[in-house]
Amino acid sequence: MIENLHKWLLIRLVLLWIILSLAIGTLVHFLGNVRLDNHVVSMAKAETASYTNAIISYLKSPSEQALDELNLRIQDEIEQDNLIAIEFYDANSRKVSEAIKPSAREIETRLPRHGSEFAEESGIICKKVMLADDTYLRVFIPIINGGGNKLGYIEGIYHAPGDIIAQIKQQTFLSLILVILVIFATSLALYPLIISLNRRLIDYSQNLALTNIGMLKVLGSAIAKRDSDTNIHNYRVTLYSVRIGEKLELSNSAMQGLIKGAFLHDLGKIAISDAILHKAGKLTGEEFETMKSHVHHGEDIIHGYDWLKDARDVVRCHHEKFDGSGYPKGLTGGDIPQCARIFALADVFDALTSKRPYKEPFSFDVSVSILKESMGSHFDPGITHLFLDHASELYAEIGNDDETLLHGKLEICIGKYFT
Ligand SMILES: [Fe+2]
Repeated sequence: MIENLHKWLLIRLVLLWIILSLAIGTLVHFLGNVRLDNHVVSMAKAETASYTNAIISYLKSPSEQALDELNLRIQDEIEQDNLIAIEFYDANSRKVSEAIKPSAREIETRLPRHGSEFAEESGIICKKVMLADDTYLRVFIPIINGGGNKLGYIEGIYHAPGDIIAQIKQQTFLSLILVILVIFATSLALYPLIISLNRRLIDYSQNLALTNIGMLKVLGSAIAKRDSDTNIHNYRVTLYSVRIGEKLELSNSAMQGLIKGAFLHDLGKIAISDAILHKAGKLTGEEFETMKSHVHHGEDIIHGYDWLKDARDVVRCHHEKFDGSGYPKGLTGGDIPQCARIFALADVFDALTSKRPYKEPFSFDVSVSILKESMGSHFDPGITHLFLDHASELYAEIGNDDETLLHGKLEICIGKYFT
């Protein structure tokens, strides 16, 4: 169980690590790009805006000479900037002045053209353009005079510095690696914690199962004391049932229900009066009807306890017969739960081969022949054939052992199917 848990947990923690790394990594990458964009945009805006004062000075007293001075000034300044081109348009979107870095003329021609769509804009506009691996930003800044009138706008083409982009990308990459490592370390730290918690849970549930099984034995003994004064019948019918169940390759949960049901099959006899339960002679019709009610009493007793709900099929159906002549419901064939059909055979075989107050034990051969005669009427033919194929070895293993030996074998079964 623990080995499976290790594998189960490892797979899930690795999956969790991958999923969280992808999700958070994507978020970090996205935020890194946003940060990069914001940084470059703010630099582009700042550099483009730095030309605003020179243009406003020209606009205060425009002349041919002032324009020449402006052209010289912006051509001189652009060489110091990351801008590759700066253009000044008047209010009618006519180009008044421009400066372009000689090395950037070819790049400028590859950038998308634009018309006068920015003439009416009153705010700063910045558009990002990628050419090959380089990032360019086209910035439009309106020029507004003191009276709030728009005098024109500046267009700057900014070439984002590769070293700054590389630096921000490197920071984003390092953040990404850090996130992946933190998630990995967290997953690693969770591993022993979950294993430890689960081990405690397993110990707790095993203790709980042992407590429940102890209660099962106590109840079984209480019925035995009431009925026959020994546990031996309960032990034998449970072992016969388990062996048949194993031959039929029942599931673990079905085996648990079979064992619980075998232990508690006659629990309802607690509610039957001594006068009927211990009557030496044959029961009257009315007494037999009362005796039959032990099935309902048993069902009522275990009804409220969830751990015993899988014992209910055996408790309520162990007196049903394959041909429908049994009680309490007269179920037939496959309508009788399989574990009840198994138990009915084990119960009768043990009753036949055992000494009872009203009879001596039948021999093995006589008991087997009675089972054969009842095949298809009382017992499921398939289960009976299977049992008869192994009856002699099962009788040798179970039929003549004392209570202590049988209890030991039963403990092994309980260990196998309940822990
Ligand atoms: Fe019974």
